[in-house]
Amino acid sequence: MSSLVWDVLYPSSKIRAVMAVSLVWIIITSIFYKRNAYQSVLINSWGGPSSASNIKVQNPGRSEDNSLNWVDFTAPIGNNRTPSKDDQVKNCVIPQLLENDPVMMKFYKKLAPPKCTDEEWLYVENGTVRFSKSAILKHKRLTCDYYPLIRDGDFAIKYGAPVKNIADGHKMTSDFFKGVCRSLATNETNLSIYSGIHYSEDRAKRKKYEGATTLDKFPFFWHDARKRGYLTSWCNAVSGPFNWRMLGFNEAPTDFYTRPYYMAVKKDLKSKVAHCIRARTESRVWLDYFKDIFLMYPKQRKFLFHFSADFSHDDNNPMTIVRFRFCNCCSCCFVF
Ligand SMILES: *[C@@H]1O[C@H](CO)[C@@H](O)[C@H](O)[C@H]1NC(C)=O
Ligand SMILES: *[C@@H]1O[C@H](CO)[C@@H](O)[C@H](O)[C@H]1NC(C)=O
Ligand SMILES: *[C@@H]1O[C@H](CO)[C@@H](O)[C@H](O)[C@H]1NC(C)=O
Repeated sequence: MSSLVWDVLYPSSKIRAVMAVSLVWIIITSIFYKRNAYQSVLINSWGGPSSASNIKVQNPGRSEDNSLNWVDFTAPIGNNRTPSKDDQVKNCVIPQLLENDPVMMKFYKKLAPPKCTDEEWLYVENGTVRFSKSAILKHKRLTCDYYPLIRDGDFAIKYGAPVKNIADGHKMTSDFFKGVCRSLATNETNLSIYSGIHYSEDRAKRKKYEGATTLDKFPFFWHDARKRGYLTSWCNAVSGPFNWRMLGFNEAPTDFYTRPYYMAVKKDLKSKVAHCIRARTESRVWLDYFKDIFLMYPKQRKFLFHFSADFSHDDNNPMTIVRFRFCNCCSCCFVF
């Protein structure tokens, strides 16, 4: 896994880049939905101390040795052959490192989780915009406008024409939007930027699609997955490796693509509390998006590459405020 990821993200000519982000935390989750059974592979690398226990498979029934379960993306859908572990790992030597090495532990600091005190009057639920109960109770005659967030290349965003005065339960027409709410009684304004999943027939019928459509010809793995009918997602909070000294993508590389959302947050929404996006922690927002994909597209096969450099870039310790656990892929548990 890691050689694939590193080769994609940092070709060998970019060794310095590899060094710079060597402590980055990566989660790759590729999930394969079958009508009556979930098969999921969750590879969780914490960058630092690593051992075989970092590689977890949540479907012991299908894994011969209970530790690894390989999925052959080159095989047509329906072919259940999983290559033997030996085929796959013979060239990959997993280093045995001490988890609590005192040399490293002296740099470890446990940070307090942020208290996100901002209020959000709206939230997203199953592709709809909801008004929060506390806002309805507290603010008389609440009116909210929906501004769809539109991707304008990989380095710009814009907002579409607003839908004025939306009702609770308004169906999203874009994956991201800006909500501007006013309470007439007190004349307070509240602005937030939300991410959620907009249900689209095209996506739902992905199985019928053949051929990737992005302009970027780099053979990213998600193109292969997409050609085989998988919904794809590349998610990285804020700036990513493809936009830092690189030109990014002319077209969104994957079906779900959070870059416009994080650009909007950075541009339009400064939270008073570090590591918060309005009422929620950054890690929670990041995970909610992941969760929404499962809620909105429960039956589709998915290849999701969700990555966040921000929690551990330059400094590993912010990782200590990211607290969550994955129970199973379709009813995620979060601890904050
Ligand atoms: C989400 O909304 C769709 C309709 O768009 C509905 O069919 C589905 O049951 C809803 N799912 C949940 C978990 O509420
Ligand atoms: C709220 O107050 C601002 C001035 O602070 C005013 O321009 C605006 O029209 C008011 N909005 C409402 C709905 O009363
Ligand atoms: C949103 O409303 C709360 C009060 O309910 C206020 O403290 C906060 O400043 C508002 N946010 C913005 C961006 O105006």
